[in-house]
Amino acid sequence: MIDPQQMAASNDDTARMVGSQIYDTEMVGSQIYGIGIDAVDIKRFRGVLTRCPQLAERLYTTAELDYAYKANDPLLRLAARFVAKEAIAKAMGTGIWQLRFANVEVTHQRGHPPSVLLHERAKRIADARGIRKWYLSITHTEIVAMAFVIALHG
Ligand SMILES: CC(C)(COP(=O)(O)OP(=O)(O)OC[C@H]1O[C@@H](n2cnc3c(N)ncnc32)[C@H](O)[C@@H]1OP(=O)(O)O)[C@@H](O)C(=O)NCCC(=O)NCCS
Repeated sequence: MIDPQQMAASNDDTARMVGSQIYDTEMVGSQIYGIGIDAVDIKRFRGVLTRCPQLAERLYTTAELDYAYKANDPLLRLAARFVAKEAIAKAMGTGIWQLRFANVEVTHQRGHPPSVLLHERAKRIADARGIRKWYLSITHTEIVAMAFVIALHG
């Protein structure tokens, strides 16, 4: 989350860049298939992954783990990606266990919003439902991680 003081210092270019995606022309003619939202308490999530570190390999792809471990506190990125996967399952209208966590990947491109890359069963289900585009937004603080997603079809 942005610190209010940082926000006061931000310029118009940043605002345009962060908000530009909403004018994406690919959306024309599309309909919303579903939306999803989820949040997790960081302390609780840290406790679970500390007790069961082997969970990480079941929940994340190698690329997600590599990206998370570049951060000072990887748990924040892991938590945000965990809730993103849950939010994606909600938008698809299916349970995350049906999709398998590692088949729902959150990808990263520096300076851009995160995006969704589905594999195997998750991709087959999304394709069958005609979902062709995703919008994903994530945020994390020391206290909470949250994700919001929109799935488009048509
Ligand atoms: C995008 C931005 C608003 C993030 O806000 P923040 O308060 O620092 O951090 P938050 O916890 O709310 O969000 C972090 C998440 O935003 C996402 N993000 C990064 N760049 C983004 C962008 N341009 N648009 C939308 N989301 C973005 C990332 O997924 C990040 O999570 P991650 O580190 O786990 O990958 C802020 O970094 C910003 O204004 N950046 C300016 C544009 C920019 O990205 N410049 C970098 C050029 S190299």
